[in-house]
Amino acid sequence: MKIIIYGSQYGTTKQYAQELSKKTGIKAEKYTDIQDINQYETIIYLGALYAGRVLGMKKTLNKIEDCHNKKIVIATVGLADPNDKGNIGRIMDGIERQLSEDMYNQVNVYFLRGGIDYSILNLKHKTMMAFAYKRSKRLKEKERTAEIKAIIETYGKKVDFIDFDKLNPIINEIK
Ligand SMILES: Cc1cc2nc3c(=O)[nH]c(=O)nc-3n(C[C@H](O)[C@H](O)[C@H](O)COP(=O)(O)O)c2cc1C
Repeated sequence: MKIIIYGSQYGTTKQYAQELSKKTGIKAEKYTDIQDINQYETIIYLGALYAGRVLGMKKTLNKIEDCHNKKIVIATVGLADPNDKGNIGRIMDGIERQLSEDMYNQVNVYFLRGGIDYSILNLKHKTMMAFAYKRSKRLKEKERTAEIKAIIETYGKKVDFIDFDKLNPIINEIK
């Protein structure tokens, strides 16, 4: 059995999960609604990035008792450019910290771009982004990573980088 699981706070990751579900016929469920992850042979986990962590991923995937006979695909959804090598490296470091060594060595990871709408952020997230923006502005141009550039360019705005075509390699892998 296959399942799409998503961790999404403001809906961009959910949109990717629902589109993937529509295109593959695989059911998509929020990570908090998953009862028994061990019943699935193929797990596609889509998670939004929050301060380098993939929302809900650790809690969900670390419940897998034996990952060796399963196919596990992870797709992160973030604001920073997913084609930037440094950004990919930092996302992978974050995933490595959140998963067991066995699981990390087995997963296949894809990188998707989401969006942000400052008008709907909760107070905690608004405050975090205000601090991040202040810190980012102090950095010299050459010190700015893809994440820093994304924070500066989108600060206070509503932006949408969702591109459903980027799901195609995932669809090919799991069909
Ligand atoms: C507090 C906060 C921290 C974030 N941290 C990251 C990050 O580390 N890397 C990144 O690429 N995007 C980061 N983002 C952007 C989100 O990943 C992006 O808005 C994503 O589309 C959110 O997914 P969701 O709508 O499914 O919750 C952050 C956003 C907020 C509000």
